[in-house]
Amino acid sequence: MSVTTIAADRSVCAPLPVLGRDVTVPLVTGGEVTYAALDYAASAPALQRVWDDVAAYAPYYGSVHRGAGYLSQLSTDLFENSRAAVSEFLDCREGDQVVFTRSTTDSLNLLAGALPAGCQVFVFETEHHASLLPWRDARVTYLNAPRTPGQAVETLERALADRDPYGPALVCVTGASNVTGELWPVRELAAAAHAHGARIVLDAAQLAPHHPVSVRELDVDWVAFSGHKLYAPFGSGVLAGRADWLKDAEPYLAGGGASRKVARRADGGVDVEWHTTAARHEAGSPNVIGVYAIASACRALTEAGFDTLVAREQYLIGKVREGLAEVPEVKVLSLFGDDAPRVGVISFVVKGWNSSHFAAALSAEYGIGVRDGLFCAHPLVRTLLGGEREDIGECGAPDGGTTALNAIRVSFGAGTPDEHVDRFVRAVKELVRDGARWNYRTEDGRCVPDRG
Ligand SMILES: Cc1ncc(COP(=O)(O)O)c(C=O)c1O
Repeated sequence: MSVTTIAADRSVCAPLPVLGRDVTVPLVTGGEVTYAALDYAASAPALQRVWDDVAAYAPYYGSVHRGAGYLSQLSTDLFENSRAAVSEFLDCREGDQVVFTRSTTDSLNLLAGALPAGCQVFVFETEHHASLLPWRDARVTYLNAPRTPGQAVETLERALADRDPYGPALVCVTGASNVTGELWPVRELAAAAHAHGARIVLDAAQLAPHHPVSVRELDVDWVAFSGHKLYAPFGSGVLAGRADWLKDAEPYLAGGGASRKVARRADGGVDVEWHTTAARHEAGSPNVIGVYAIASACRALTEAGFDTLVAREQYLIGKVREGLAEVPEVKVLSLFGDDAPRVGVISFVVKGWNSSHFAAALSAEYGIGVRDGLFCAHPLVRTLLGGEREDIGECGAPDGGTTALNAIRVSFGAGTPDEHVDRFVRAVKELVRDGARWNYRTEDGRCVPDRG
């Protein structure tokens, strides 16, 4: 779809109101400008609706699962209703469990601790470290980066065909890359996993904020995501899916809430009966505000209509990609090519620029917040930068001697106004054409404006 076609649809959907939309920041060159938050892939701003819901609940805050008082009961209801709201948002199956965690990283570590004995894990090297690293105690097979979605399925099928066919196995895959924004063929990978008797967990940290996720339709066994990327930055995350491995596993944390009954034994020790529900892995007082915020975000996105949100985001993606394509010095990083379906996450490098310098100039001279680095997906970014290794000095100084082995990432979503992406494209063009208007220096390995 071209930018102009989507522009016609766009009138039905303005950006969703988010906190910070009117915040101004100083420019190093003088004056102030409205902050353009273009780092949604790291943490998205809170939806105004989420903030309002949290503020409305805050006076009624009370302990969850532990109090006889009215506000404790109300808070417990709110917590459990939030579980139901998340289950509905993810279109979970009958019998699936929603466990509240701190984040995607926490969710995947919880699942890693619940793997049955002898479980083999299959993971693409292209994953975020949160998906790549938690499987320390398992036999892990790291799969090479595929260059097409079809190749991803073939690679997985080949690896699964070679595995011990009788033992348990788990595939871990991301729904949308935090580097390229490209969508992975989750349904096909799930079918391949199941055909070989393996299970699959979907890392939806970057997918859920941009796209509807149906556990039932994708036929994944678990899905993990973080509240702070889903416009609900109050410290909670989700692991949802099959109950069996979780109910048989050691509790993630040992303590109150996870235990149903604790008694002293005659020999002086302690016997514990653990819950077999989600509570088994939710020991300690739960973060009811964080959980309620996630449920509120789920409702807000569903009510806004994902079709409209997706259409608007595709329109913004078109603007950014078309703008960057007009700058020959810019190379956009991609695994699956130009036509791959994607969310609003775009990484690139600029010829002759240290990425940290470029990101610093976007911030200091244009009030635009992006990220530079390897985005906690070192193997993937290194693969994508493979042919692009250039020695570029720190902060652009030709003899600085550092290797510009990192990239710049711009990312956006439901709260992003047109002006932010328009300003970004203009800034990239001006910086490449005219250079930075300020001097920068390196401090603790990062470029910062030199105010000395
Ligand atoms: C694809 C992906 N998975 C997992 C994570 C980890 O999320 P969190 O830091 O919220 O645990 C991220 C964070 O950037 C991500 O992009």
